[in-house]
Amino acid sequence: MSDKVIIFDTTLRDGEQCPGASMNLREKMEVARQLARLNVDVIEAGFPVISDGDFEAVSKIATEIRGPIICGLARCVAKDIDAAGAAVKAAGERGRIHVFLATSAIHREFKLNKAREEIIRMTVEGVKRAKSLCRDVEFSPEDGSRTEPEFLAQVVQAAIEAGATTVNIPDTVGFAVPEQYAGLITYLKTNVRNIDDAIISVHCHNDLGLAVANSLAAIKAGARQVEGTINGIGERAGNAALEEVVMAIKTRGDFYGGIETGVHTREIVKSSRLISRMSGLMVQRSKAIVGENAFAHSSGIHQDGILKKRETYEIMDPREVGWGDTELPLTKHSGRHAMVKRLEHLGFKLSDAEIESVFVRFKEIGDKKKFVYDDDLSVLVDDSMGANLEGYTLDYIHVASGSSTIPTATVRLKRGEEILQDSSPGNGAVDAAMKTIDRMLNQKGHLVEYNVQAVTQGKDALGEVTIKCDFGGGHLVTGKGASTDVIEASARAYLNAVNRVLNGALLARPDAAATP
Ligand code: KIV
Ligand code: ZN
Repeated sequence: MSDKVIIFDTTLRDGEQCPGASMNLREKMEVARQLARLNVDVIEAGFPVISDGDFEAVSKIATEIRGPIICGLARCVAKDIDAAGAAVKAAGERGRIHVFLATSAIHREFKLNKAREEIIRMTVEGVKRAKSLCRDVEFSPEDGSRTEPEFLAQVVQAAIEAGATTVNIPDTVGFAVPEQYAGLITYLKTNVRNIDDAIISVHCHNDLGLAVANSLAAIKAGARQVEGTINGIGERAGNAALEEVVMAIKTRGDFYGGIETGVHTREIVKSSRLISRMSGLMVQRSKAIVGENAFAHSSGIHQDGILKKRETYEIMDPREVGWGDTELPLTKHSGRHAMVKRLEHLGFKLSDAEIESVFVRFKEIGDKKKFVYDDDLSVLVDDSMGANLEGYTLDYIHVASGSSTIPTATVRLKRGEEILQDSSPGNGAVDAAMKTIDRMLNQKGHLVEYNVQAVTQGKDALGEVTIKCDFGGGHLVTGKGASTDVIEASARAYLNAVNRVLNGALLARPDAAATP
């Protein structure tokens, strides 16, 4: 058995299914580029049949991203499989079609209304169809961990016979516990005649907080592909956090005996931050590996121990996952060339026009704060890319507020030649700014979530505002904005959400569990 565990990243598919986490094409490309730098083995880039946007993202990633295998998801029906095949075609030999079909009794009876024989027939037909389009085919019996083991073994055997090169056993609803899940992998290894003709993969959800533990137990039992997402984002409680799986294998080499991944671990923190910004999903401070506090020792006893010998209280070197890799900050005196060099170092690939708009924001911010750190710069890139969306830009904002004043905002927006200006009172400065934008655009957005975070330390830090908004129909749209003034950052975030709607962010999200 190979000692390499294949890392399958589904941040752009299962991760993006998290409400309000949907990303636009530019953001998906940025994430895919970073995943390639992280050196994951497979990028599941989307669910091509679901929307034109998903199809376009998967095919662009298949065309432009070099290195990892590029995978498209498909239900076990012809139109899905054909769309996935077409979307990953540009990746050539590195293309993969991932076909799934539910197999558990509860899904067979209540969702699919299909007997066992029909499930096996559909599996074989679907895998064969995928195989006719692509050499690399993965099959997932959805809700595999709750499927009767002997039936699961039959489905897996049939899928491999039909040509599946990877068989994935999803714990779709996060029901499994480590010993039992590992037992299921052992059962399949013993009872599926042709199991050695395919890689066994695992895909764990985190409903009981066990996704990483289940994945690791399955590796010990012989699984050689792990599926998950960066920061563990995903539907409900999310997916297995890949950074945790990777670092557990690396740090506990003594236990995992020679098993390794190809991940460039120094890229982990950068990946986590990028994905947090792109998805609008904050990383909890105490989150393992990538949380702000993951390596912060506050107790005197720990600090003393660390100073004497790091390993007394640190099981990993923070630099190994990319903490502390920062360079000297830029200042308002830094020129375009220095900024471009730093952007390249941070992994951004921008057009001349994009560099121009980042540079304008860089100078604005440089005038307001002493140092522009790498994190500031990354946020400015997001902010100016958001402004580059077709739509409105914030030209001017003035807000009057105080303990004995009715907060009132005056806002001027631009869109091409069109200039809009208005003012409105509100229940607080942020409310006034957003109400003014609503008045001008004749809309009513409902703010569902509002977060503000200082990008770096210091009173002059950039504040990054992330919001989730419903403009009708229950679809959540994320907006982000940054400024040294949090009211301005809030207005920018709101406008960013408005522009995403104008740019089609309200397209229906996939229902992965929908009946084929
Ligand atoms: O959780 C799940 O079962 C899935 C499948 C599509 C693999 O995401
Ligand atoms: Zn899933």
